[in-house]
Amino acid sequence: MRAAAIAQPNIALIKYWGKRDVVRNLPAVGSISITLRDLFTEMRVQLDGALTDDQLTVNGEPDTGLLPRLSVCLDRVLGQDRDPACIESHCNFPIAAGLASSASAFAALTIAAAAAADRSLETSELASLAGRASGSAARSLYGGFVELENRADDIAVRTLRAPAEWPLTVIIAITASEAKAVGSTEAMEMSRKTSPFYSSWIEQQPHDLATARDAIRQKDFAKLAAVSEHNCLKMHSIMWASRPPVVYWNSATMACLGTVRDLQAQGLGVFFTMDAGPQVKAVCLPDHAAQVSEALAGTVGVVDLMESGLGEAARRITTP
Ligand code: DP6
Repeated sequence: MRAAAIAQPNIALIKYWGKRDVVRNLPAVGSISITLRDLFTEMRVQLDGALTDDQLTVNGEPDTGLLPRLSVCLDRVLGQDRDPACIESHCNFPIAAGLASSASAFAALTIAAAAAADRSLETSELASLAGRASGSAARSLYGGFVELENRADDIAVRTLRAPAEWPLTVIIAITASEAKAVGSTEAMEMSRKTSPFYSSWIEQQPHDLATARDAIRQKDFAKLAAVSEHNCLKMHSIMWASRPPVVYWNSATMACLGTVRDLQAQGLGVFFTMDAGPQVKAVCLPDHAAQVSEALAGTVGVVDLMESGLGEAARRITTP
């Protein structure tokens, strides 16, 4: 009745923003992401009939903030008549700061919970369950370049390319480490209900997905860079134009965009993307990573840098 799993966060290049079904947490659009290698969340789940309630520690400290969402996820995987769970989470990067910590958390929890109850589920079933908890979590069940497609009544997720086939490097410029003020779930709904750009976003997404899919198939970095930056800026434009506006960027976010533009002008293979937070993820060719890292480290307002290659799917691990 005890099991553990590890999952890496993923960074969307073609973004999921908006839901077509809030109750089932089904996305309004498909998305394409890259799974990281060096950032991780490890989840240990022990089902224990002697407990009265679920319990959670995050990096060794008791935590109640995320517990209700984790409990609902456990109910979905194991049924509501399950035993209470003792959950231990370990994460090596800032939580809730726009670094996809919920994606790795729910992907790892789904696998660990099923394993703790000795249930063997297909990866596609685990992805659907993780996606019900957090849309982006479904993609962390797969490694490398990952596409999430909308199907009639559910999602379908698959790897487009294994990480070893096109190894890119991601440099993450941390520009603020506190948790974000508005969560992505809430911000998405504000966008859907109030942003005048939302319907164009939905209309154009198939075109961006097709372009990115082609770029990944052809390993065309310039093509992937152009469509990823465009898609990211469109997503943020929707948020800026919603009422109330949602602006996740700070002045250092803008400064990092300037740094990436300068590096591109010098001929380096690098592009930016940002999610529901102020951090800038610079995706680059491995040969250019050192120069990208140095330039971002010297950008005003950058407080820390993290670097990662592309990684494998979430998986069960053995606990000591
Ligand atoms: C900007 O997966 O966190 O990172 O399904 O409401 O939990 P919920 O949303 P979440 O949203 C991710 C939004 C994004 C883009 C992306 O990862 O595709």
